[in-house]
Amino acid sequence: MTEQAPDHEQGPPTATEILKHEHQLVMLVVEAMEREADKIETTGEIDFDDVARMVDFSENFTDGCHHAKEEKSLFPRLRESNAGMQAPTSVMLQQHESGRQRIRAVDAALPAARQGDADATRLVAENLRAYAVGLRDHIGKENEVLFPMADGILSSDDQRRLAIEFDRIESEEVGAGVHEKYHAMARELAGKGA
Ligand SMILES: [Fe+2]
Repeated sequence: MTEQAPDHEQGPPTATEILKHEHQLVMLVVEAMEREADKIETTGEIDFDDVARMVDFSENFTDGCHHAKEEKSLFPRLRESNAGMQAPTSVMLQQHESGRQRIRAVDAALPAARQGDADATRLVAENLRAYAVGLRDHIGKENEVLFPMADGILSSDDQRRLAIEFDRIESEEVGAGVHEKYHAMARELAGKGA
């Protein structure tokens, strides 16, 4: 998947465009996870440095940066604007949580896998794959269903305010320079599949 810049021709990107752009970055790592799961299942060998970076990216970019914007800013705004958004945003939150559990399971299996434990090695591959499959489906639902609904509900002022909140979440809660670090990491992991 090629990462593409959001459409800036009509002015600054909207909140949902910012999130869709981040999805492109997340998908680079999801694809790398699927390749790693295939390789582990074929060879029984784990690239521990790469898997550690996949866990780091998933915890600190996908969850700490991207899901934080959705959970702290976009979803509450949608629920305030439209009671009908309660159910779809609750489903999205559950999917974020099941992804967190999969990443914790990968992380928990790594020490034994390093010692050559075959069951732990299998758990690393299984949970990488389950995370990747789940997140691919989740991102598809957000891009194709939830964000178009959000675009219909939010005014352009709402979108602008959310984009400002995203900047605040990124600078105050995630930290300066973190976004760039994870952009570089995603591209490196993606480059290994080229
Ligand atoms: Fe998302």
